[in-house]
Amino acid sequence: MGYHLPSCMRFLEASHAVEIIREAGPAGLHIKELAARVDCDPNKLGHILRLLATHHIGKEVSPNIFANNRLSSFIDSGKDFKVIKANPAIKYGGTNGIAAFVGMCTDELFKSSAYLTDAYLLEEISKHSSLPSAAPFNLAFRMKGQFFSWLEEEGNEMRLKRFGHAMTGTAGWEDGGSVSQADGFDWAGLEEGSLVVDVGGGIGSTSMTLARAFPHLRFRIQDRPKTVELGIAAWKERCPEMLESGRAVFQAHDFFTPQPVQNAAVFLLRVITHDWPDEFVTRILLQLRHAATPQTRLILVDYVLPLACEDRTEDIGAIRTMAPPSSGLLPNLGKANANAFWLDMTMHVIFNSKERTLREMTDIALSAGWQVTNVIRKPEGSLFGSIIAVPISIPPSKTLLSAVVEQEIVERSVSPVGDTFYSHSRLPSSPKAVGITMSQSDSAMRRMTQRLRKTISKTFTRTG
Ligand SMILES: C[S@@+](CC[C@H](N)C(=O)[O-])C[C@H]1O[C@@H](n2cnc3c(N)ncnc32)[C@H](O)[C@@H]1O
Repeated sequence: MGYHLPSCMRFLEASHAVEIIREAGPAGLHIKELAARVDCDPNKLGHILRLLATHHIGKEVSPNIFANNRLSSFIDSGKDFKVIKANPAIKYGGTNGIAAFVGMCTDELFKSSAYLTDAYLLEEISKHSSLPSAAPFNLAFRMKGQFFSWLEEEGNEMRLKRFGHAMTGTAGWEDGGSVSQADGFDWAGLEEGSLVVDVGGGIGSTSMTLARAFPHLRFRIQDRPKTVELGIAAWKERCPEMLESGRAVFQAHDFFTPQPVQNAAVFLLRVITHDWPDEFVTRILLQLRHAATPQTRLILVDYVLPLACEDRTEDIGAIRTMAPPSSGLLPNLGKANANAFWLDMTMHVIFNSKERTLREMTDIALSAGWQVTNVIRKPEGSLFGSIIAVPISIPPSKTLLSAVVEQEIVERSVSPVGDTFYSHSRLPSSPKAVGITMSQSDSAMRRMTQRLRKTISKTFTRTG
């Protein structure tokens, strides 16, 4: 029943309890005072905090008095509770994004995961589909559209902002922004004024790291229009001079459409390919391939999933095993590396996509005319890596994609069919396992309840 842990973590983050406790000082705060400020029931709050403290997230310093510790402090925005309570939208601005990441994971990602079996086993409409609009997320949130469009829906403004900052939080996957490290890709070796296009660059967190490390480079950060607006606001707050000088420019651009930049030194895609099923990634990479010069480099920054067995291929960047000799450990180090496999499931439940193995990444790059030449993993042993590719000729069969993918790319608009989070799937053992609509489900439930009530009342009449 470990599923309660993310529920309780969401409560901790969403209630801003960490900020309140920090303001109370290291001696901690009694649940009654904390509950009064959070505006919730103190008894429920106490049990939630105790479960978290049992996992070393915060601590119970004396009966019903809780204080922060290093783990709970990770999600401290550093801001004044009154300020963020009055205006939650500013909570994540200027932070390292960890609170935003925890908020996002324990809300939309966690809820979507609960619908994995509904979508992949019980629902005819989604069980055999690999379209991004038929993912567990779509069942969980009653959405017909795709995740990124949904984030832009009215009412989701907070979630959209949180997503942008959560991406800043993923810098932790790279051990201090390793994409920019001297022994990684040779950024320093690029000519003065070279243009790096950060495709699907979000609010530009990676470009900001690179721009600070390599002053001779220029940056074009492309994303959906609303994210571009948020990106400009974030850069105005943190490094306005880069926008003012024109070294960094934001551009609204849909990466499924022809790439307008034809002189890029680098097309950088950080955690983009893992958001999309294969045919969609091919489409994105094809657009970049068409705009590439012979000198352009493609950098895909993503988790590279190791196999659970030894990898005996001779592929560039392949690691035979990560386990020390005779250690008895799995070649991929098993649970110690579970984070990459968890993220893989996250991509499944939100996008019907996946994290990829090296072979899968190499094949998908080839499908769009890119040859992988190098794989950089920083620090040594990290599963998060940069895959470098150069342009080669495009396989003729890949210039056209299937009609259904074309259709999905065009129809990325959203049609919400409800508010949030419900289940209408029957278990396989129930008479109508699939295809039950919400209203059918409701009336079936009502009939069942009435039958149950009658049975109970008959039983009591007989025994009474
Ligand atoms: C997982 S985030 C990665 C953001 C950024 N690369 C980073 O590492 O922080 C994926 C990004 O792709 C953007 N995106 C989704 N669909 C897009 C599209 N059709 N065209 C351009 N950007 C898109 C999203 O808005 C989001 O910012």
